[in-house]
Amino acid sequence: MSLKPLLLLSMSRILTGIQSTGTPHLGNILGAIIPAIEESKKNTESFLFIADLHSLTQIKNPDELSENTYSTAAAWLAFGLDTSKTVFYKQSDVPLTTELSWILSTIFPYQRLTLAHSFKDKSNQLKDVNVGLFTYPMLMAADILLYDANVVPVGKDQLQHLEITRDVAVKFNNQYGETLIVPEPLVNEQTKYITGTNGEKMSKSKNNIIDIFVDDKKLKKQIMKIETHSLSVEDPKNPKECNVFKLYEVIASTNEVELLSKQYLKGGIGYGEAKELLLDKILNRFSENREKYFQLLEDRSKVEELLFSGSKKARVQAQKVLKRVRSRVGF
Ligand code: ADP
Ligand code: TRP
Repeated sequence: MSLKPLLLLSMSRILTGIQSTGTPHLGNILGAIIPAIEESKKNTESFLFIADLHSLTQIKNPDELSENTYSTAAAWLAFGLDTSKTVFYKQSDVPLTTELSWILSTIFPYQRLTLAHSFKDKSNQLKDVNVGLFTYPMLMAADILLYDANVVPVGKDQLQHLEITRDVAVKFNNQYGETLIVPEPLVNEQTKYITGTNGEKMSKSKNNIIDIFVDDKKLKKQIMKIETHSLSVEDPKNPKECNVFKLYEVIASTNEVELLSKQYLKGGIGYGEAKELLLDKILNRFSENREKYFQLLEDRSKVEELLFSGSKKARVQAQKVLKRVRSRVGF
C-alpha cells in the first residue's frame, strides 16, 4: 500500500488532547487551548479531544470524571473552538484508540518506557501507581496515529511523549511497511511554560494553579496567593524573578509589560499593586471567555450534543487507519 496519496490528503491535519483531570487552568489555556485553536484556524483539518481515558489513571470517582470532562469541554468552547471546522470529541467515545494502543505496545520496547520521565515524576508523586500510568505513552501515541495527524500542538512537558509517538510509528512502519504518519510536535515558544503561584510550573497536581473559571472573588484570592519576595514598595525589583510579573508578561500587551518592567526596576511599585494589575488584566482579557463558560455550564445538553456529533466524525477517520493497521499485522 502506498502512503503518498494519504500524506497529500492529510498534509496539515493537526490534533491535540487535554486531560479532564480538572477545569483547565491558565497554564492549560495559554499553553495548549489557545495555540491549538489558533492553529486550527490556519489548517484545513483539526482534531481536538478530551483525553478522559488518560484521566482514568488518576480519577476514580465517576462523578468527578464526568464533571471534569464537561468543564474541560466548556472551556475549549468558551475559547472559540469552532465545531463546524474542528472534530471535537471525547477519547472514550472512540474505543478503537485502545485497540491501536495495544497493537503499538506489542512493538515498543519495555525498557524505553521505563525511561519516560513523566512516568518517573508521576510515580514519585502519586500513591496510585497503576499499569495505565506506565503505558500512558502508548495510549497517547494511539490518540495521534489513529488520525494520521501531522502536527501536534503541546506544552514542552509533552515533548518526550511525542518523541515516543514518533519512534513507535517508525518502528511500526519498519516492521510492517509504511502505514502510519510520523507526526511533528508544535510548541508555542512564548507560552510553553506558565509558572504557577509558587513559581514552579503551573499544574493541577501542584496546588499552584490560577483557575479563571471561578467568580471574581475567588479569582482575586488566587492572585493574592502568588508567592513573592519580601521587598518594600520603594525597593527596585527584578521583574525576571517575580512570579506576578511572569504571569503579567504572558497576558498583557508588549507596551504594558515594558511599562511594568520599568516600574519594577525603578522601585515604587509594591507586589500588592502588581497583583491588582494582574487581576485587572486577567478579568479584562478573559471576560468574554468566562461569560461564555458560565453560560455553557447552564446548557449541559448542548455540550454533550457537540461532543457526540464530533465522536461520530472521529470514528469514521479512526476506522480507516485501524483497518490499515489490522490488515498489516495480519488480523
Ligand atoms: P497539568 O500539569 O495541570 O496536569 P496537563 O498535563 O493536563 O496539565 O496538560 C494539558 C496541556 O496543557 C498539555 O498540552 C500541557 O503541555 C499544557 N500545559 C500544562 N501545564 C502547562 C503550563 N504550566 N504551561 C504551559 N503549558 C502547560
Ligand atoms: N498527555 C497529554 C497531557 O497530559 C494529553 C494528551 C493525551 C495528548 N493524548 C494526547 C496531547 C494526544 C496531544 C496529543 O497533556
